[in-house]
Amino acid sequence: MSETAKIIYDGKEYELPVITGTENEKAIDIGSLRQMSGLITLDYGYKNTGATSSKITFLDGEKGILKYRGYGIEELAEKSSFIEVAYLLIFGDLPNQDQLERFEGAIRNNRMVHEDYKRILGGFPSRSHPMGVLSSLVTSLTAFFPESLDPNRSPEGVNLSIVRILAKMPTFAAWTYKHKIGHPVNYPSSKEDYCSNLLHMMFKQPGADYEVDPVIANALDKLLILHADHEQNCSTSTVRITGSSHGSLYTSVSAGINALWGPLHGGANMEVINTLENIREDGGDTKKWMDKAKDKDDPFRLMGFGHRVYKNFDPRARIIKKAADDVLDKLGVNDPVLDIAKGLERVALEDEYFVERKLYPNVDFYSGIIYRALGIPVDMFTVLFALGRLPGWIAQWKEMRENKEPIGRPRQVYTGETNRTYVPLNQR
Ligand code: SDX
Repeated sequence: MSETAKIIYDGKEYELPVITGTENEKAIDIGSLRQMSGLITLDYGYKNTGATSSKITFLDGEKGILKYRGYGIEELAEKSSFIEVAYLLIFGDLPNQDQLERFEGAIRNNRMVHEDYKRILGGFPSRSHPMGVLSSLVTSLTAFFPESLDPNRSPEGVNLSIVRILAKMPTFAAWTYKHKIGHPVNYPSSKEDYCSNLLHMMFKQPGADYEVDPVIANALDKLLILHADHEQNCSTSTVRITGSSHGSLYTSVSAGINALWGPLHGGANMEVINTLENIREDGGDTKKWMDKAKDKDDPFRLMGFGHRVYKNFDPRARIIKKAADDVLDKLGVNDPVLDIAKGLERVALEDEYFVERKLYPNVDFYSGIIYRALGIPVDMFTVLFALGRLPGWIAQWKEMRENKEPIGRPRQVYTGETNRTYVPLNQR
């Protein structure tokens, strides 16, 4: 017996279907609401509105649960690899040995980018923010691979577009970093695994050898897994709605990069370190900054805390916090901001304002600390978030295209002026 919900309005009753997901989530399907009743719904920030149904990622914000294609994030972070998780998210199942080798081999063999990218990069001032450069380089893939502009091309063609962006975005990220610090770029290697290749391209200095530290490579791989997808968050929704106009994968991902850049979203990991540094420079006065975060007249927010969906600990934050401890310990790094972060977390978790609003540390709170320990410069933190989220964006774009979802076009309630008559300039 299918469930329904009733709306009573203006003396009339409207019955709407209720759909149930595989994790028992319930939603009122309002697809026929306006046609039945003339009503639309209004939900600023889509806090209570589902945009789609999806088989990719499930999270339970109250219980702090996150699963990719049904696998718990804790198990994947411990036992899988970023490339294997990318395959799982994009194609729906864990790959067998042959599938993984072919997938990883295709990515390794597509890491090189056209030499013209050096000229494109050269057009950016070195002070450019890496996220702006990255989104431009990703969009320019449509120039080098114009066939990618047809999102309805063959599955083989779509898979080639997928492999190319998975392979080339780390090269773009590393070259963007090298351009920023004025160093010559390092070419990608098809012999190294995903993280070792990225670290090598970023940190090998001219004329010097560079040995990848396995502790750093492993920690980075775990971080990328933890960032790989997260349901219909701001940047993923941006990727979907851009793709819904039959925008290409590359232009949709570029739009997602720009949405992720915002400090309320992926840009928070940079802001967290800036806040912790400010607290440190301010003599570690955590209470002062907590008070600022709670002051409605002060625009300051405690970055890395709070979440639209998690009203419990972000499960990723728990894993990253432990990884941060392990990495700093193994690398022998004593980072004073880690102690400030733990102190801030302790105070926040007991503070009435934060407890009342269920503001817990989120994925960005500890990730900045671990990136710093890995030697990643602050303004590259969100670039790494984008590298991690890329498989999720791809999977969501692919699902939306395969489901032939309609172009995204929300409605509105108009609240502006009504009938006005034009007044000539000399009479205004
Ligand atoms: C990510 O959606 C995702 O899945 C995102 C993400 C992913 O993987 O894709 O998880 C990644 O973006 C994590 C979030 C990173 N952003 C930050 O850390 C920025 C700081 N956090 C906040 O700006 C805020 O918590 C948001 C943006 C994350 C969520 O905002 P909401 O859901 O719109 O909630 P809200 O702003 O309405 O806050 C509710 C209340 C308000 O107080 P009242 O008006 O009720 O009195 O909580 C307060 C807010 O002022 N509040 C904070 C706060 N976050 C919320 N107060 C102080 N510091 C904060 N960080």
